[in-house]
This record gives sequence, structure tokens and C-alpha cells, in this order.
Amino acid sequence: MSQEKETKKVTVPEIMAYKRRGEKISALTAYDFLMAEMLDEAGIDLILIGDSLSMVFAGYPNTLPIGMEEMLYHTRIVSRAVKRALVVADMPFLSYQPSLRDGIYNAGRFLKEAGAEAVKIEGGEPVIELVGKLVDFGIPVLGHLGLIPQSIHKFGSYNLQGKQPEAAEKLKKEAKMLEEAGAFAIVLEKIPAGLAKEITESLRIPTIGIGAGPHCDGQILVSQDMLGLFDKFKPRFVRRYANLADQVRKAFRAYVQDVKSQNFPQQNESFE
Ligand code: KIV
Repeated sequence: MSQEKETKKVTVPEIMAYKRRGEKISALTAYDFLMAEMLDEAGIDLILIGDSLSMVFAGYPNTLPIGMEEMLYHTRIVSRAVKRALVVADMPFLSYQPSLRDGIYNAGRFLKEAGAEAVKIEGGEPVIELVGKLVDFGIPVLGHLGLIPQSIHKFGSYNLQGKQPEAAEKLKKEAKMLEEAGAFAIVLEKIPAGLAKEITESLRIPTIGIGAGPHCDGQILVSQDMLGLFDKFKPRFVRRYANLADQVRKAFRAYVQDVKSQNFPQQNESFE
């Protein structure tokens, strides 16, 4: 990577230009300073403070319980660490559904109070008016279609979406609507690869896939999944680049053992 590329800030127009250039967009999640800094240094293009932190960081069974204050807190921390990547904050459940006013106000808070450069919003038709307003007011929006985890109780499972022809048509239509409303890119989660390809080819804005096959304009994963830190289950679409949970457990066990057996600390780890 050249020095110029390393330090050039990734902006919303730049993310859109990746598609025109045929360059894939790399995206991952971060919830804390250390992880965000390491991701940024690795040259990631987009960092999402995902509401997946509800499950991965806070231990809730789904993404519904996490609220605005927690999301703002994590977004502030990540923004402080990032110099190059585009920082996108996830709008949590009930921060935009009740009214346009709530949606505009809460999205604005991420930019005004927490240093985010864009927000992500789940859904198609029901959020189109909000997306248009946000973009008009200078708040860039990353759409999210397919498996939208805030609707887990409607779906009943985290299964593949858009399998039936009717559902696939609806997703194609909603992707176009999001583009027309001004979204700068769309996350496509857990839909068939062929459908993701069709949607990707039909849009001028980039698609960023997670469990949506190789034809999207970019890819995103939850960092703790790809690092093997969150190992309670592994969706098929996750590629593990490390097995950190095993190493962390092993290190913790070794520490406990060393303290109990008085192997730690030694003289050279003490002061005179
Ligand atoms: O919350 C999240 O981390 C997400 C990504 C997995 C796309 O929505």
C-alpha cells in the first residue's frame, strides 16, 4: 500500500467510486478503541459500529435491547481511533421506527456527538422516506436488506432471505428504492448469491455482502466472528482468520495456574 493511499481518508463519495473503479470494499465491525485502531492500520475501508455489539459485546440474545446511549458511547470510542476508514454507526432498534423526527434526530446525534460519518438503517420500503430526509440533511445512509436482525421476531429465525421469487422481487425493488432515496451503499445480508449478483448489477451504488456470495461490491463480517473470538456458533458465511478464543482461554488458564503455583510473579517481574 502506498503512503498516499494509507493516509487518504475514505469518504462516502470514495466508497461509491470504488464500484465505478471495480475495486472491492473491505468492511468490518468495531466496538472499541484497540480493535478500531488495528483495523484502521490494516487498511480497512469501512468500519461499522454494528448493533451486533448487543450480542457480541453486551451478551444479549439478539440486537433489540441495545439503545442509543450505548451505541453513541461505542461510536465515540471507535471514531477516536480511526484516521482513515469511513466510520458508520448502526441505528439501534426503536431509534428510527417511531417517527421521522426520531430517526432524523437520532441519526444526527451519531454525526454531531459521536464522530460517525454515516448511519446504517435496516429495512426497505418502511424507511425510504427517512432515508431521503437524512440524505437531504447531509446524513449519509448505508441501507441494509435481506436478513435484518432487528426483525428477528418477525422472521422467527436467522434463516436465508429472498429465496422465494416474491421475496426476491421485493428485495430487488427495495434496493432500487434505497438507491433512489439516496443511500450511498446497501448491506445485503444472507440472501442467495445469484440474487445478490442481480441486485448488485442493477444498482449504481455499491452492495456490501455478508452471507450474500462473491458478487457484491464489498464484504463485511463481524470482527469477533472472523477472529474466532465469538465462537458460540459459526455461520457458514464466516471465514475464521484466527482462533483467538482458544488462545485467550489458554492464556487465562495458564495465568490462573501460575498464580496458584506461585510461578508468577518472579524476581524479574518485581521491584527491589
Ligand atoms: O450489526 C452488525 O454488525 C451488522 C453487520 C453484520 C452488517 O449489521
